[in-house]
Amino acid sequence: MENVFYITTPIYYVNASPHIGHAYTTIVADVLARYHRLRGCRTFFSTGTDEHGDKIVEAARTAGVTPQEYADRISAQFRNLWPQLSVANDYFVRTTDPNHVETVRCILQKVHDAGDIYFGRYEGFYCVGCERFYMEKELVDGRCPQHETVPEHRKESNYFFRMSRYWEWLIRHIEEHPDFIRPERYRNEALAFLRDPLEDLCISRPKSRLTWGITLPFDENYVTYVWFDALINYVTAIGYPDSDNFRTFWPAAQHLIAKDILKPHGIYWSTMLKAAGIEPYRHLNVHGYWNVDQSKMSKSLGNVVKPLDLKDKYGLDPFRYFLLRDMVFGLDSSFSEEAFVQRINSDLANDLGNLVSRTMTMAVRYGNGRVPKPTEAAAEDRLLEETAARVVTEVEACFADLGLHKALIATWEFINVTNKYIVEREPWVLAKDPAKHARLETIIYNLLEALRITAVLISPFMPGSAAKVMDQLGVADTASRNFESIQAWGGLRPGNELKRGESLFPRVEFRAEETGKAHAPAAAAGKEVSPIKPEIGYEEFEKVDLRAAKVIAAERVPKSNKLIKLTVEIDGERQIVAGIGKDYKPEDLVGKTIVVVANLKPVKLMGVESRSMLLATDAQDGLTVLAFDRPPVTGSKIR
Ligand code: ME8
Repeated sequence: MENVFYITTPIYYVNASPHIGHAYTTIVADVLARYHRLRGCRTFFSTGTDEHGDKIVEAARTAGVTPQEYADRISAQFRNLWPQLSVANDYFVRTTDPNHVETVRCILQKVHDAGDIYFGRYEGFYCVGCERFYMEKELVDGRCPQHETVPEHRKESNYFFRMSRYWEWLIRHIEEHPDFIRPERYRNEALAFLRDPLEDLCISRPKSRLTWGITLPFDENYVTYVWFDALINYVTAIGYPDSDNFRTFWPAAQHLIAKDILKPHGIYWSTMLKAAGIEPYRHLNVHGYWNVDQSKMSKSLGNVVKPLDLKDKYGLDPFRYFLLRDMVFGLDSSFSEEAFVQRINSDLANDLGNLVSRTMTMAVRYGNGRVPKPTEAAAEDRLLEETAARVVTEVEACFADLGLHKALIATWEFINVTNKYIVEREPWVLAKDPAKHARLETIIYNLLEALRITAVLISPFMPGSAAKVMDQLGVADTASRNFESIQAWGGLRPGNELKRGESLFPRVEFRAEETGKAHAPAAAAGKEVSPIKPEIGYEEFEKVDLRAAKVIAAERVPKSNKLIKLTVEIDGERQIVAGIGKDYKPEDLVGKTIVVVANLKPVKLMGVESRSMLLATDAQDGLTVLAFDRPPVTGSKIR
């Protein structure tokens, strides 16, 4: 294993307070950093906040303060949150920090000097939420595919980064380094972006429109595009260009992000580094999205999960454990408080908590309050030792390829084998027979050593609980708390003073009424129900020709995860395109009779003509298409 580790999280926008998604990424980074520190690696862990751009200006305006005041306020929320979640970052970048501003200007100048920045005109659709331009064909129903808002059409002269020059280089780099972007699904997604030639990237905004940004070093009238500014944080944090930290840590750089920002990291950042003459980062690690009770988390749905609420209600280590145990790295996961409570009661209270309390109770009751010396090893102890050795190797392999939930599953296998060891060895029976005392001491030693190994294995995930177990075992030296010390059985020193502690993980109760939102009607669940429109006469309603249409064929529109092309029968066949691809599979629609607006002017969606519009409404978990409870006559009028 390499001896240097550098991990970064995205720097979060300061336009909203931290939620469970931010907590997840940052806790994963912390778990990885803690693990590498426990392996004796030189480790650097950086996080921070992204504070420039339109989005922040808008949020500040709404809050009635200056962008700087607003950024200071929300940035502090993030900075102060991390220690409360036991996140031990080495650095916190703010894009408004003077050293970051300097680094951005230095890299811009370098890329400009190399001839990779030029001045040109630009016209396109700009989404403030994404802080980027979209091409018309990328829009879905004329809306941003991420935010579903209508982007602004903008025309302006700007500076461009010659990203196109690095198109072939980037494809080659990704192909030659299979783990450059991982897991593989996201590597494939990045390669899919690269199927078409790369366009140049617009990297400036005129000050006439936006002043809240970093001024270009070669033109006072422009500020830097927020992504060009933000991505550079990863080298600011380690003192680019000439600090020792940069020389040491950059070659080992690994970024951790969710799938939403794959493109800026996989494409923009890689090519920016190349243009600036900096080696590419080592790995881009991409995880999935946390949804809540199967729905996307959003302010308007009122289902944003706040990390401190969960920590206060259930404790910090259970929260960290749950996040890491319930998400398969790379896939989406749905947060449910009920599942969280189940995990606490089964994995933490029952399996781990009981193991610690039973072992400590027996060790104190049957001994002299100290770790006994093992003497009489028996063949029947081998399974415990062998499982420990296998699980330690497995956990290390899981860390190498980010299978963090698998690392926990393996650790729990060891916990369960240890619990079984208690049941099978029956120390309470041996305790009654003085002749069996040496054997009893060996068994108690093995159990205490198993606790120490477990404590090391869980310590990146649940540092507080691991420390409590170590304290109960009287292990004070750091050498017996690291991964090196669990490479072989028997690292626990006989004679250590044992201290029984309080129950590590008390059982908790799930009270459905607190989280029953999922079953509440839409309005009560905070789902937006739009206000009723002003009255119209019957003649006006009559102008809308609604018909029952039978779906004959359906297929996805290529390159869109939202659009489905349907062939329907009304007065003959016609083609319509509907944005229901996230809620329906094409094959599920064929044969249904639905309601369409038959006299709507044709439009093109992603280049595909649509000659009607189907009617749909909101369900709790997405869209539901209007249908009938008795088959109507195809083409008949809806009255
Ligand atoms: O994109 N599930 O900032 P951001 C899991 N400033 N992770 C989630 C999540 C969810 N539902 N929601 C957010 C930005 N995240 C830019 C980044 S980096 C140079 C600039 C996490 O505040 C996840 O890590 O929108 C995601 O990539 C990040 O927050 C986006 O944070």
